Amino acid sequence: MAEHNTELRNGHKRTTVKLEAGESVALCRCFQSKEFPFCDGTHKTLESEVGPVIVQAPKPAEK
Ligand code: FES
Repeated sequence: MAEHNTELRNGHKRTTVKLEAGESVALCRCFQSKEFPFCDGTHKTLESEVGPVIVQAPKPAEK
């Protein structure tokens, strides 16, 4: 799993995810993941068609 840090800011949990170039992470959009904000596959057990959003850090341009 990508390097991440969760902290409390103004009463709200904030998670910062640090990705290496080309690394990707699946973020939960169904709000049912036990690993929230990361997708753990729980969405597959729901009636909803909501799935994760995949975020990928860009790779450095080749010279
Ligand atoms: S567990 Fe929520 S989108 Fe996958």
